[in-house]
Amino acid sequence: MSPKIYLDWNSTSPLHPTVQASIKSALSHYGNPSSLHQTGQASRELIETARDKVAALIGAHPHQIIFTSSGSEANNMVIKHPFASTPRTSPLPRIITTSIEHSSILTPCQFLSQTHAQPVTYLAPTPQGIITPESLASEITPDTAIISIMMANNETGSINPIDTLSQVNRPKNTLFHTDATQAAGKLPINVHDLNIDLLTLSAHKIQGPKGIAALYIRKDDLLTPLLHGGSQEQRLRAGTENLLGIIAFGIAADLAKANQDSNTAHSAQLKSQLIAGLSQIDNIHINTPENSLPNTLNISILGIPAEAMVMRMDQEGVEISTGSACSTGSTEPSHVLKAITTSKDIQMSAIRISIGSTATSQEIDAVMTLFKTIIPKLRQHHA
Ligand SMILES: Cc1ncc(COP(=O)(O)O)c(C=O)c1O
Repeated sequence: MSPKIYLDWNSTSPLHPTVQASIKSALSHYGNPSSLHQTGQASRELIETARDKVAALIGAHPHQIIFTSSGSEANNMVIKHPFASTPRTSPLPRIITTSIEHSSILTPCQFLSQTHAQPVTYLAPTPQGIITPESLASEITPDTAIISIMMANNETGSINPIDTLSQVNRPKNTLFHTDATQAAGKLPINVHDLNIDLLTLSAHKIQGPKGIAALYIRKDDLLTPLLHGGSQEQRLRAGTENLLGIIAFGIAADLAKANQDSNTAHSAQLKSQLIAGLSQIDNIHINTPENSLPNTLNISILGIPAEAMVMRMDQEGVEISTGSACSTGSTEPSHVLKAITTSKDIQMSAIRISIGSTATSQEIDAVMTLFKTIIPKLRQHHA
């Protein structure tokens, strides 16, 4: 059997060999970074070096980075802040977010709405999947506590203009958060060029390990902790630090920054190759807009249910995804596709191909050859 072709990098990415090596060589460090002795302080030093590297990826100061267990935790910390910091006798202030966010934003919003009458406004995207400054401006209220708009969408790769969205006039105490989990390493990010307060990153999307992520916090008194306990992470996130994960995240961030231009060019070239190949197949609808992540292509192969396509490709050794990995297993169309189109056929047949640094042009050729043989068969089967 020929080797697997992995084109599901937005779901997760393989550990970079240098990251793997960094984990192996860090295995002997066991000190608790909060301990005053030398073994503890050796770990502390490794954490602070990693913090420098993660901060550098987004142009932040190291003290503006706190490590969390996941992008989901960082997003929950942001969304639950108004609830956690408002006295029970006062009404909760508003959250403005979008209908195309990741579930780690949408689900806490829904939870708080249902259990604590949290007011939430969901901005709708354009048919290209983009949130406009006008739509944000029309929804900002004096009681808005948080605006949370993702930098790039995990399913379609659409990019939101965070630079202009963050310039939309907002009340002085309204915090602007962007979930940059998918954008990091694929788009240049400099927090000082953006008028934002909070930004989420996750290591496993940039060839780091799963279970380690970070939240950029412009000023340490902006948020309430989700986890209370020890004084780790500037008292914002209790719990003995994930030393190995943090070290590896630092190396992954360093590599992502150093290789960003070449990775981006490589992905963009393979994506163009895919689009050129797909233009030879009838009834393919491209759901990814022109201005999008260089590595992401979401297409609907009309007439073929997405699950059937993904499973058939998997049998042939090609790993892709139906919309978001998190919604896999449900036959409901993805909330992102529903937000950009009313066509059931487009919604039900949407698949995502997401490319990474180790993908090759030969692999894309192999995928195209496979498409040409299996699409007619599957269309016939599902007619
Ligand atoms: C846009 C976006 N935000 C947040 C997350 C959650 O990150 P994590 O897997 O680290 O919890 C993901 C993961 O798929 C994502 O794509």
